[in-house]
Amino acid sequence: MKNKNVFYKGWLIMFCSTGLLGTGASYAQMVTIPVETAKTAIILQVASNKDLNTIYLGKKLNNPDEYGNVPGVYKQAGDYTGMYNSAYTPAGSRNLLEPAIAVTHADGNNSLDLKYVNHTTTRVSDDISLLSVQLKDPVYDFQVTLYYKSYYNEDVIEQWSVIEHHEKGSVTLQKYASANIDLNAGSYWLRQYHGDWAKEMRPEETELSHGIKTLDSKLGTRADLFMPSVFMVSLDHPATEDEGSVLFGSLEWSGNFKTDLEIDPQDNLRIISGINNYASPYPLAAGQAFETPPFVYTFSAEGKGKASRNLQSWARNYKLVDGKGSRMTLLNNWESTYFDFNETRLSELLKDTKKLGVDLFLLDDGWFGNSYPRNDDHAGLGDWQENRKKLPNGIAAIAREAQSDGVKFGIWIEPEMVSPKSDLYVKHPDWVVKQPKREEYYFRNQLVLDLSNTQVQDFVYQIVDSLFIKDPALAYIKWDCNAVIYNAYSVHLHQNQSQFYVEYVRGLYKVLQRIRTKYPNVPMMLCSGGGARVDYGALQYFTEFWPSDNTDPLERIFMQWEYSYFFPAIASANHVTDWGKQPLKFRVDVAIMGKLGFDIVIDKLSGNDLKFCQDAIAIYNANKPVIWQGDQYRLSDPRTESVASLMYVSADRSSAVMLNYLVNYRYGEGSKRPIRLKGLDAAKKYTISEINLYPGSTSPINGTHSPINSTKVYSGDFLMTVGFNPEISAGRTSVVLQVKTL
Ligand code: GLA
Repeated sequence: MKNKNVFYKGWLIMFCSTGLLGTGASYAQMVTIPVETAKTAIILQVASNKDLNTIYLGKKLNNPDEYGNVPGVYKQAGDYTGMYNSAYTPAGSRNLLEPAIAVTHADGNNSLDLKYVNHTTTRVSDDISLLSVQLKDPVYDFQVTLYYKSYYNEDVIEQWSVIEHHEKGSVTLQKYASANIDLNAGSYWLRQYHGDWAKEMRPEETELSHGIKTLDSKLGTRADLFMPSVFMVSLDHPATEDEGSVLFGSLEWSGNFKTDLEIDPQDNLRIISGINNYASPYPLAAGQAFETPPFVYTFSAEGKGKASRNLQSWARNYKLVDGKGSRMTLLNNWESTYFDFNETRLSELLKDTKKLGVDLFLLDDGWFGNSYPRNDDHAGLGDWQENRKKLPNGIAAIAREAQSDGVKFGIWIEPEMVSPKSDLYVKHPDWVVKQPKREEYYFRNQLVLDLSNTQVQDFVYQIVDSLFIKDPALAYIKWDCNAVIYNAYSVHLHQNQSQFYVEYVRGLYKVLQRIRTKYPNVPMMLCSGGGARVDYGALQYFTEFWPSDNTDPLERIFMQWEYSYFFPAIASANHVTDWGKQPLKFRVDVAIMGKLGFDIVIDKLSGNDLKFCQDAIAIYNANKPVIWQGDQYRLSDPRTESVASLMYVSADRSSAVMLNYLVNYRYGEGSKRPIRLKGLDAAKKYTISEINLYPGSTSPINGTHSPINSTKVYSGDFLMTVGFNPEISAGRTSVVLQVKTL
């Protein structure tokens, strides 16, 4: 990517890392390794000194022979190391920048160099290719294999590494990144996210300056509470929805992560992402392989919208459990009862589930614990036996009743956790993560179980397994995780405490894998006191996630908007609750942006409210295929406009759902101009009608009296060039439109 000439003390020094200068080797003679998807190319090249460098990452060129010309057209400052653009920067030899890997060898030496040995590309399917490149240290018996899994149609790449050695003794991995990416542009614009409980996915977008910008987590579990690992980097200027070059990335890991974004002395951007090495130097025995989690990314030269559709379809096609399948609408009892329920109340809620017309009743927290009943959040976690007072006939009786009511039944668990007031804590204090000599410190009055311990893994697995054994018809699990890790210490790991954070997550994944082996398709919601664990490492075991405990619909528009850049609608569990000041219709219209659920008291709804919900569920059922599997287009951004608008379009462009919400409540705000639709077929003819109307209300869009009415026919060209006005105003704060071909 760079010219390697360096003028140093009057001498022309030629670094030969790309072989373009000094060796006489031509591009054609050099080992060049392309990783290509439909629209993106990453070009790796082996220099004459056997370094593996990245010479290009960006929009695919029409003629692959021209990639060799890339380094020659950059006239940047010199590279004192010849490896600023290393495909996996080793520490301790020539490197002067942030490394991807740093080790202490068995003999105590800290140096590492990695030279190309060979590579193979395997065609996994018509869509997927897997490139592996083997690198070896010329001095130590130490090797790294880099993996690039490319998804051609989705324009998505997953990158990870496998580290191994055969030294005489253990090697300590001081840093072990998954990916080391190199981008070249005039300026770089980072969109990152921060948050806290009920404040998930708040974006900040800034220009990166020289030095290192780090995105990271040290929270162990509930790792995304302050910051998720998702981010985007635009090149040259902030990409818009439909224009500009942008890379979206994220580490597939549910624990501590670290992503360093460093502008190097040549003004290129190096992104190094992996497990956070904080408190985690990892001892690796000879012959053992350390596999890092994948870093997933997509590059779009057509703005953020395209990048988001890439990730969404990749997630549906390959990552989420049952990503191409269906989901169940549900009624949850958390906000309607909290911990206060009994069999009678649950019977009523089952009837309400049926009456409402959703598929499943989800029983939340509070159903377990006897010595220390779970009547509030101070006790009971770990004692997963039905509370005999609340449920004298057990869960099985509720499940049976659900069956006879014609609804499915699901249940909440938080199996990684323990309350200090629990039988489990008394029986197995050695299973609890805490410092032996320090005072305990609680997050939501609880502690975390040590999942690095195989006995704890068995215990957690059995919590789930025994629920299914007792009730084979159990149809849904909500898996919560409310505490971060304080006082990280594992009795089980003895002297190897620095492995703890890594082994915790590996232990969690082992349990989830076992559950998925036995119960491959059962829907499971990934929850972490809201959205503090939304990542693709965990989502490979789950069907959906809980974005936030904040269900105020106005807040949710902003949150769901940002989540949607990285995660598909089918995975976003959006519940209608009593949060916020908006009318019920608005709350429902916001929840249908993803997977619809309810957490309200049904028997307190007015006749019209109930009728509205029932109708809305039926309408949602008819439209959910396009919401869940269609392409998502963002039309009007709530952060810059008074109206938020987005749409989902079916693959054949014959039907779409357009969602519109008022987000600015100042006088006279509304949709003053038409909103341009996207993703339609310009040549096709469409009709537009308003759906999800509140009983008794009429729509200015439907009906023949209106100048814009549902019988009117528009070309896709018109709708995408001029647009359509959903007529959003203070009196019509949310409008759902169905767009259909004739
Ligand atoms: C967390 C979840 C909520 C609910 C409660 C139960 O906060 O995010 O949805 O399940 O726990 O304690």
